[in-house]
Amino acid sequence: MTTETKFDAIIIGAGAAGLMAAMTAGQRGRRVLLLDHNAEPGAKILISGGGRCNFTNREAPANRFLSGNPHFAKSALSRYKPADFIALVDRAGIAWHEKTLGQLFCDGSAQQIVAMLMKGCRDAGVIFRFDTPIASVSRQSMFHVKTEGREEFRAPALIIATGGLSIPKLGATGFAYRIAEQFDLPMIKPEPALVPLTFDQPDLPLMRGLSGTPCEVVATAGKTRFREAMIFTHRGLSGPAILQISSYLKAGDSFTVDLLPGANAREALLATKRTRPRVALRTALAEHLPQRLAHALAPEDDQAPPIGETSDKVIGALAERVQNWRLTPEGTEGFAKAEVTRGGIDTRALSSQTMASNDVPGLHFIGESVDVTGWLGGYNFQWAWASGFAAGQAV
Ligand code: FDA
Repeated sequence: MTTETKFDAIIIGAGAAGLMAAMTAGQRGRRVLLLDHNAEPGAKILISGGGRCNFTNREAPANRFLSGNPHFAKSALSRYKPADFIALVDRAGIAWHEKTLGQLFCDGSAQQIVAMLMKGCRDAGVIFRFDTPIASVSRQSMFHVKTEGREEFRAPALIIATGGLSIPKLGATGFAYRIAEQFDLPMIKPEPALVPLTFDQPDLPLMRGLSGTPCEVVATAGKTRFREAMIFTHRGLSGPAILQISSYLKAGDSFTVDLLPGANAREALLATKRTRPRVALRTALAEHLPQRLAHALAPEDDQAPPIGETSDKVIGALAERVQNWRLTPEGTEGFAKAEVTRGGIDTRALSSQTMASNDVPGLHFIGESVDVTGWLGGYNFQWAWASGFAAGQAV
């Protein structure tokens, strides 16, 4: 336990961004205090990537990030690249592998990433205080941080790294937003992103009946499209394609799903009509889709005519449903299931170089608390590393 009360920088939040900022500032010889209300650091790192942490992506161009200002993230991302984090992981002797779409995972466990960052912080002299809820933050000639344990720490720089609202049971709070409000910084409304979608009538019964069925799809909203896996759930849709598109939808927006990417359902069914007219329509469709899905999309009774006696119009309508299924979610599974929070501290209030407030000198916001939201696939950690590095270099 530290008896010091004055530091060069205080960082609140020992997640991905806070650990990176603390290590970076400590390595520059700064005296750093890192506080967290959780008993352990990096709760989200530990559960990420199914316990193997998708710690970055091979490439992290700025167009993989959503923000009110799409240019904001460029500076930090260009000064701390995926290759920089890979070099850190390699120096720590952590084995990793690449999955689809450039996603990099630990061979072993996400615990290795937390251990690597904690060792980096310790070697750099960072002082930790876990299990330390914050009572108040104020700014006089310096920032004063009072804990609920009635301790008080001071520093000329304060880095807020408390993340967003997703998964409250892991310790997520709206702390960053309260600090923004206290210091009059503008906010973009925080909302769940990378989140499963929920549906109502008329689509829900079909989705519920197919719960657990996976398929590869293209999900499209406006000009944005993702070709990835989708899975039906008892409340609607999930899987990477759906999580990705969810980040682009506002309440009431619709999107389309192509259940047969890269193929032409109409031509395929019409070819079957010509060559094997006695086949049932649902059987013809099941040659291209998982059987449960084909049967749900083309329900038939015993009287249904074979494909040879089905009109081209009916076949065309089925093909349209398969390849251009228009869906309007009723809502999302909310922050309890969202992988990230979109929105947050408005980037107009921050320096893209240092992540510091333009109006409150020394007050920095990093990671998920900021209105920069990555795609699924290691991009959110890359933003945490890059923004944490930018602030750690600046304090
Ligand atoms: P993060 O949430 O990591 O850390 C915030 C810290 O602040 C926590 O330690 C918390 O306890 C602390 N804190 C909060 N409120 C506080 C308060 N009031 N007082 C004191 N401390 C407080 N991304 C990715 O790139 N690859 C992946 O594989 C995954 N996988 C994944 C799985 C799941 C289930 C989730 C929920 C999320 C992911 N993510 C992901 C997203 C990724 O985890 C996320 O974007 C980063 O952890 C954000 O890092 P931050 O440091 O900004 O916040």
